[in-house]
Amino acid sequence: MPIIMPIYGTRPEAIKMAPIVKALEEDEGLDCVVTVTGQHREMLDQVNDLFGIVPAHDLNIIQPRQTLNGVLTRTIQGLDALFDTVMPDAVVVQGDTTTSTAGALAAFNRGIPVVHVEAGLRSFNLFSPFPEEANRKITSQVASLHLAPTTTSRDNLLREAVPAAAISVTGNTVIDALLEVVEKEVPFSDPVLEELAANDRRLVLVTTHRRENQGDAMRGVGRALARLAGAYPDVDFVLPAHRNPVVREAILPAVEGAANVIVTEPLAYGEFTRLIALSDVVLTDSGGVQEEAPGLGKPVLVMRDNTERPEAVVAGTVKLIGTDEERVVSEVSTLLDDPQAYAAMANAVNPYGDGHAAERTVAAIRQLLGLGDRLPDFSS
Ligand code: UD1
Ligand code: UDP
Repeated sequence: MPIIMPIYGTRPEAIKMAPIVKALEEDEGLDCVVTVTGQHREMLDQVNDLFGIVPAHDLNIIQPRQTLNGVLTRTIQGLDALFDTVMPDAVVVQGDTTTSTAGALAAFNRGIPVVHVEAGLRSFNLFSPFPEEANRKITSQVASLHLAPTTTSRDNLLREAVPAAAISVTGNTVIDALLEVVEKEVPFSDPVLEELAANDRRLVLVTTHRRENQGDAMRGVGRALARLAGAYPDVDFVLPAHRNPVVREAILPAVEGAANVIVTEPLAYGEFTRLIALSDVVLTDSGGVQEEAPGLGKPVLVMRDNTERPEAVVAGTVKLIGTDEERVVSEVSTLLDDPQAYAAMANAVNPYGDGHAAERTVAAIRQLLGLGDRLPDFSS
């Protein structure tokens, strides 16, 4: 039976790979051998636990304050050794992390076909997001099958001369994952969040972690949050903090002591999606959150100057605002003060998927292996 090896290592990859792992495991003609690198630890395990995924192989490469090259080399070395004992018929990598590009390169160098999930996203700026824009372009060079979430991402690949026959438009599997968990309305493990859910105060959800925002920009975002919390004592600001100590050192000092800024540990995915659904405004630099919140009709202010996810910007639900302290304060204030500006952005749009991306993914993998036909492309 053909061996398909999903390889992933960070929280967002785990969330987006989970529906694919489930669909591969249900396919009786394929042997799914889940391999995690452990680029993340707690944040990765949290997702695997939620979806009931037990990896067959775990490289456990994480180190405190790890470097990009450290993650890259430990992943390639670990996978190369694994390929000596398990030789998959294809590997599946997701997105643009170091794990994903290292997985693609390690497989390519051993002659193993690479399936790239969430292919074709481009910000057209090699240094933003860094290093993700380079990572996804490198993976595109070595992939045999490119699974583009949207027609925009397919068109980016076609412009780079990727053959049309090697591209399938699947939708983004994050919408499969979101639709599976969000309707469960799981209880919050933190009683403070359960209190927030029960009261009728407005809520602003904040996440930040991007490497290019770390340092001065992130400290400015911290100051902006503290100012907003002071100006709007009737609004709660919830900040699930990334585990990265560099992020915490930048953002947390400014908001310490602010009663209406609630800092939490990373939330389990079900809890986090419930929090999006409860929010009035989402302020983030995350890729995945830009895809999820529009589906739930939440205005999203993105603390970046560009995005590889233009679809929800075009739809009007996402606005790029950068990281300037004054701009963050003024954009959040506008949404809190101006009902018309709010209504203009609070549209539920779902350009990223319909919940069936994993089925299209598995069908396309089967076609790659000569075992069947792909499904019709996703269109929004
Ligand atoms: C990485 C990805 C980024 C993705 C983000 C998702 C790359 C180049 N970057 O960010 O694309 O958006 O993950 O969150 O692959 N840590 C823990 N426990 C965890 C996770 C992290 O302790 O569960 C700490 C460790 O000290 C680690 C640090 O956070 O060294 C940074 O983790 P890392 O994966 O290197 O972060 P980024 O590269 O910033
Ligand atoms: N997320 C989560 N718990 C949190 C914060 C985020 O489960 O406390 C989820 C979120 O719903 C999204 C993903 O993590 O699916 C985004 O991860 P992150 O922002 O770390 O990475 P990115 O998407 O920017 O690569």
